[in-house]
Amino acid sequence: MAKPFINVEDLRRAAQRRLPRSVFDYIDGGAEGEVTLRENVRAFEDIAFRPRCAVETPTPDLKTTVLGTPISLPIILAPVGSSRMFWPRGEEVAAAVAGSVGTIYSLSTLSGCRLEDVKKATRGPAWYQLYLCGGRDVAAASVQRARDEGYSALILTIDTPVAGFRERDSRNGSKELLTRRPVPMLPHIGQFLSRPGWLMDFFRDGGLMNFPNVRLPGGPMPYADVAAALEQSTSTWADLKWIREIWKGPIVIKGVHIGEDARRAVDEGADAIVVSNHGGRQLDGVHATIRALPEVIEAVNGRVEVLFDSGVRRGSDVVKALCFGARAVLIGRAYAYGLGAAGAPGVARAIEILRTDVVRTMKLLGVRSLSELDRSYVDVNWSR
Ligand code: FNR
Repeated sequence: MAKPFINVEDLRRAAQRRLPRSVFDYIDGGAEGEVTLRENVRAFEDIAFRPRCAVETPTPDLKTTVLGTPISLPIILAPVGSSRMFWPRGEEVAAAVAGSVGTIYSLSTLSGCRLEDVKKATRGPAWYQLYLCGGRDVAAASVQRARDEGYSALILTIDTPVAGFRERDSRNGSKELLTRRPVPMLPHIGQFLSRPGWLMDFFRDGGLMNFPNVRLPGGPMPYADVAAALEQSTSTWADLKWIREIWKGPIVIKGVHIGEDARRAVDEGADAIVVSNHGGRQLDGVHATIRALPEVIEAVNGRVEVLFDSGVRRGSDVVKALCFGARAVLIGRAYAYGLGAAGAPGVARAIEILRTDVVRTMKLLGVRSLSELDRSYVDVNWSR
């Protein structure tokens, strides 16, 4: 890569330079006033480290397991829909990198690549994230395909009864652009013409993607229908029962904000949960997830593994979540920026930045292994 990417923010800026505004803002933006989006990142600043100094700290081993699956570091790639818009065959590219560094790739239902092709692209483990788009039968068919391909866990995302209102998408003409009619599209075309590199990649990759994992009776779900499809496909606790009948492997419930839902998820048979607010893209005004994590950890009381996401931009954020008791963290934007900036090397660089940060932070804390991280290494003073 021509320029050194020192931190995730560098990857973010590079993605902004390569991607049309509507694609960049789709990754970067959040719901409504973006209060939760900002707070997810900021709230890590309310946590201070309490290091033990003058102790010998050999390079720590970052290997761990999640749901029994060994991974080389406590960082998993979160489901990020429409990654194929960021880079040609984006989901396959990101999955391949995850496999090469020894971690899990989570594939969104709303992927531009077939789940079979994504699984083949990685030599590592993969999870399939389920939205019930198209109804039960359509979802069941994709779950069966995921099972046949060897996906090792199913993520059920529960925080999307409707798509969050992302104001940037409205301003950038996301609806108008999908009408395929010249008059409404015209005011929004300039953003693509100013990104010829992306535009060439987009056409080389077949133009506007559809959703091949949502096989409707008339063919794959078209790109335009996402918001409507989500609204008609709310996942409820009742769905866990029929999903359990067709999916015998572990089920991960993603989108838990409070202790009450965490307990409910465990009681309903979840094998793990992800404390997540969807990266501030759904209900604006909820707590930052790092603020919500202690309540959930307490409620779960060790009964299942607790994973964490939203707002992770540095390895020190990962370490703070682990100190609170998270088993591992998922990253969304951190790798999506890398993918949009530079494809596979960008994703690899995002993971490498975080891995190096985690190792350095642990050494500075005087910690030799992940299992030593606990609440005694952090002091919390929530400012909101
Ligand atoms: C997401 N996320 C998401 N989650 C999910 O369950 N299914 C999906 O299809 C998507 N799609 C998606 C697209 C984009 C562009 C982003 C940024 C995020 C949410 C994702 O899995 C994760 O919860 C957040 O990205 C975590 O927050 P950070 O790491 O982006 O701050």
